[in-house]
Amino acid sequence: MKLFLDTADIDEIREMNRWGVLSGVTTNPTLVHKERMDPEAVWKEILTEVDGDVSLETTEPQADPMYEQGVSLAQLGPNAVVKVPMTPDGLEAGKRLVKDGIRINVTLVFSPAQAILAAEIGAYIVSPFLGRLDDVAADGMYALRQICEIYDVQSYDTNVLAASLRHPMHVVEAALAGADIATMPYEGFVK
Ligand code: G3P
Repeated sequence: MKLFLDTADIDEIREMNRWGVLSGVTTNPTLVHKERMDPEAVWKEILTEVDGDVSLETTEPQADPMYEQGVSLAQLGPNAVVKVPMTPDGLEAGKRLVKDGIRINVTLVFSPAQAILAAEIGAYIVSPFLGRLDDVAADGMYALRQICEIYDVQSYDTNVLAASLRHPMHVVEAALAGADIATMPYEGFVK
C-alpha cells in the first residue's frame, strides 16, 4: 500500500519526502486555499516536488466547465491526477476525461455502490471517505473492506485510495483491507 500526504503544504511534503516513504499527494480546494498563494503556483510546486501522483481537484459543479477545468489541470504535469466529485456531473466529466486519456480520481465516495460507478467509468483512483462516514455514525472501514472485495472479485483496475483517514490505525486497517493507497494529513503521520 502506498502512502500519500493529504496536504498542500510544501514543507510537510518535503519533510515526508526526506523519510523516503512518500508516494504521492492528495489536495483539495480547502487545503490549497490555506496556502494563500495562487492555486496554480501551489499545484506546480507540489507536482515538481513529488515523485508520484498528485491529485488536483476540480471546483466547477457542471459537467462541461468541469471537463474543461480537468483538461487544464492535467496539463500542469505528467503526474497530475484530476479529482472529480461523485455526482452525475462528475461522472459525465470524468468519463470524458478518461476518454481523453486523463487519469481521474473520483472523490467524495461514501458507498460501495458509488465505488462501482467510479470503476465503471474507468477511474484511475476511487476515494472512499472513511472518516466522514464515521462522523455520521456509519462504518467507514466496513465500506472500504466491501469496496476492496468488490474490486477484487470484479477485477476492476481502479486503485482504491482510503481517504479522510484520521489516525495511524486507520492506515493499518486500510492496509489490511487491501487498499492500494492511504492518504492522511501530516499530523496523522507524526502522532
Ligand atoms: O482526503 C480527504 C480529506 O481531504 C478530507 O478529510 O479529515 O476532512 O474528512 P477530512
